[in-house]
Amino acid sequence: MSTQPADSPVKALTIQDFHTMREAGDKIACLTAYDATFAKLEDDAGVDLILVGDSLGMVIQGLRTTVPVTMDTMVYHTRCVAAGLEAQVRGSRTFLMADMPFLSDATPAHAITNAGRLLKEGGAKMVKLEGYDRQVEIVRALAEHGIPVCAHLGLQPQMVHKLGGFKVQGRDEAMADAMRNKAEQLVAAGADMLLLECVPTGLGRAITQASSVPVIGIGAGADVDGQILVVHDMLGATAGRKPRFVKDFLAESASIQNAVTAYVAAVKSGDYPALEQTFGE
Ligand code: KIV
Repeated sequence: MSTQPADSPVKALTIQDFHTMREAGDKIACLTAYDATFAKLEDDAGVDLILVGDSLGMVIQGLRTTVPVTMDTMVYHTRCVAAGLEAQVRGSRTFLMADMPFLSDATPAHAITNAGRLLKEGGAKMVKLEGYDRQVEIVRALAEHGIPVCAHLGLQPQMVHKLGGFKVQGRDEAMADAMRNKAEQLVAAGADMLLLECVPTGLGRAITQASSVPVIGIGAGADVDGQILVVHDMLGATAGRKPRFVKDFLAESASIQNAVTAYVAAVKSGDYPALEQTFGE
């Protein structure tokens, strides 16, 4: 039971708190949000980290992929989410991370300018970026400039046209090895967090065990430090075929607030993801 008086200010989570949670084996519950209403609702439900994902291209803008999403759109939605958190009367606890859209991080100079916009104009505390061969170099440049950074590994949706679709990554030994090496290099270059998307459970576990920073998974099995889902997916609001790792938490809840609270509880207890929401060893 909390000993804090009901009206005392809430302590905002920091990167160091995520390290402490990882060391204690406390799972980190993360969710996307794109506007002030959901930011407030997710903060109230105990979500540890909100990502303003470039998935907004698909769930907000109705695009087929995240590729066309622009920097201005990312800054706009990050500001909306930050405003929701800033409006919390007792302050907010949830940490705010925002995505670098496709090619906004093509060179170190572009990446520094654009990450700076997400922090300074948007109010984010960390940026997340996908891949390409220069991912390590870009992470190093951001880290050298004091910009907190999360590196996205596994399925990188911005690479969809190169990959030929949204597919599980790292199933064969060569690819798994390359991903393990890349994860090590990214952490050595200064990544503060890793995000692993659509990889077998064993690979998620191996990367997490070898990592010295928190690892968040989406379709990466249960043995990572935390979980993330696109909020529209976990509310069953996304049309079409749903990915294997998605669970509809609204189906068993009376309200959106209850569904998000149930998601947080399921991540914390280890009930989510269950075996059927993973891609096997
Ligand atoms: O854009 C996004 O929402 C993401 C999550 C799927 C992790 O990157």
